[in-house]
Amino acid sequence: MNIEKAVIPVAGLGTRFLPATLSIPKVMIPILDQPPLHYCVVEALKSGITKIIFVISENQKDIIKTYFSCHDVIIDTLKSKGDMELIHRVEEISQMVEMDFVIQKAPLGLGHAVLMAKKLVGENSFAVLLPDDLILGNNPTLKKMCAIHADGNEVVLAIRKVAPESIPNLGIISTNDQEGEIRDITGVVEKPSLPKAPSNLAIVGRYILPPEIFQAIEHLSQGALGEIQLTDAIGALVPQVGCKGYLFKDKHFDVGTPIGLLKASICQALKRDDTHNDLANWLNNLSLDKK
Ligand code: G1P
Repeated sequence: MNIEKAVIPVAGLGTRFLPATLSIPKVMIPILDQPPLHYCVVEALKSGITKIIFVISENQKDIIKTYFSCHDVIIDTLKSKGDMELIHRVEEISQMVEMDFVIQKAPLGLGHAVLMAKKLVGENSFAVLLPDDLILGNNPTLKKMCAIHADGNEVVLAIRKVAPESIPNLGIISTNDQEGEIRDITGVVEKPSLPKAPSNLAIVGRYILPPEIFQAIEHLSQGALGEIQLTDAIGALVPQVGCKGYLFKDKHFDVGTPIGLLKASICQALKRDDTHNDLANWLNNLSLDKK
């Protein structure tokens, strides 16, 4: 069955971006000039998703709704300047997405955030995208994951190899497969200590999940960091429904940290005709000492 709905949790406090996040949601702090949330929505739409459920905190609705609505005044101004490329980009945003919102009253963990979307998701398998994970590629990672799901109706997780120092901050998978882009996952563990990690393959913020995940979340007690962890619910489902990992090859940035966001911005600015030369020259002449 096609995956039609996606849940995008955005209610996190964004403490790594303080003080900016005192007034701007983390997912709206731009990568060059486009917010992580925009990238995420585009990836979902290009993967065949038709409805997006944003899990937000009380004060985020207006900001996100405004971003994805019509901007006639701005478009008229751009038209008078004849900036067709920018007109296209701004117009595109308002045509993007059928949206729904659900409020997560307290930041109790990713599993809890996903559970908030239970009613709106309904009875079919659905996608979850975390805007902190930016994946840049011509073919969306989520689209490939939808195809893997269609083959076997299993849970599908995006995975990538990570450095040892990142392992205690991420969800880590167990697998008996040593190679291939699609791996059979036998278990998952959230934020293990390095000696307890079953592999160096981490879960990246793209998931295809069956509706049974909600019941699995409801049965959870607090996990890593005292939070309700989505990974623990997936772990409970793996023996029943099976689970595949998609080891994607596209460029990945953790834009949930300021340094990751900066790297992603540089990468995007080097790709673009209007910014490439200026930035490349500046970087070439950059002195790398701390002063
Ligand atoms: C979440 C998940 C974790 C996953 C990570 C990817 O962690 O719980 O399993 O590896 O996203 O970004 P968080 O970043 O919320 O700590």
